[in-house]
Amino acid sequence: MATNRIKDEQNLQQQIDVLKQRLAQAQRLTALGELVSTTTHEFNNVLMTVLNYAKMGMRHKDAKTRDKCFSKIYASANRAATITNTVLGMARNRSAGLEPTDLVKLVDDTLLLLEREMNKYRIVVEKSYQQIPPAMVNGNQIQQILLNLLINARQSMPGGGRLWIKLLNDPENKMIDMVVRDNGGGIPADKLPRIFESFYTTKNGPDASGKGGTGLGLSMCRDIIEAHHGRIRVDSTIGKGTAFTLKFPVASKPARKLPSAVLSISMPVGAASQPPVGSG
Ligand SMILES: Nc1ncnc2c1ncn2[C@@H]1O[C@H](COP(=O)(O)OP(=O)(O)OP(=O)(O)O)[C@@H](O)[C@H]1O
Ligand SMILES: [Mg+2]
Repeated sequence: MATNRIKDEQNLQQQIDVLKQRLAQAQRLTALGELVSTTTHEFNNVLMTVLNYAKMGMRHKDAKTRDKCFSKIYASANRAATITNTVLGMARNRSAGLEPTDLVKLVDDTLLLLEREMNKYRIVVEKSYQQIPPAMVNGNQIQQILLNLLINARQSMPGGGRLWIKLLNDPENKMIDMVVRDNGGGIPADKLPRIFESFYTTKNGPDASGKGGTGLGLSMCRDIIEAHHGRIRVDSTIGKGTAFTLKFPVASKPARKLPSAVLSISMPVGAASQPPVGSG
């Protein structure tokens, strides 16, 4: 009897392990799909600019117009190179290793990928960065997290809105905070505990830009942050917006192990007139 039970338990554990691996693979594919659709759109936009200025330069023979066209083409080509470099970097670097990473550059590169998309949906992006030391992270994975948070925020503001992204230094805890905040629809208090569950989504499949709707984005975020000994916190107020605060260890010292409770959810009660997170 006892041996049978042990065998059953071992069997179940094996099945759980296999399913976990499949889930991790599905999460990676979702992130990759998101990146591919974002960069393809962006690349196409850049190409359109190059084509239009090339045509203009061919039509107008005067030196002034041609100079202008060349400099526009040059700027666009530079932009295209940055976009492909970001994707190539992500594809090449499959290691799960942590290394000192410049989060300001990482955030700027990621925002560049989404610049046109944010314009198209009339989202104003406000950046504010404090002086921060390098973070001990896996850049690829943090970029995947960020893409999902930014796209989630964009999708919560279908009629346009404002998105704040902040990098804050927390020298006391040797952590760096990354805050992504929107003034979209917010998340109902009873749904908030569910958003990190795999396959939990309130979207009806991908939107017009081919994004969202699998329900794997935030579960991936949580797994990645757990692996980084970081933390994620969400504050949301219906009708006011949502703020995700992520904490990553500073690189100068070995990553400090935090208590295993990595996830905290807070719901401001009766905070209808308050922004979802402190403005600091
Ligand atoms: N900034 C936000 N504002 C409002 N609701 C949000 C926000 N971020 C997440 N949510 C809610 O949490 C759910 C889960 O988000 P998650 O990123 O895990 O999945 P998804 O965006 O639906 O699909 P995908 O797997 O493509 O990311 C969303 O469907 C949405 O209901
Ligand atoms: Mg998402």
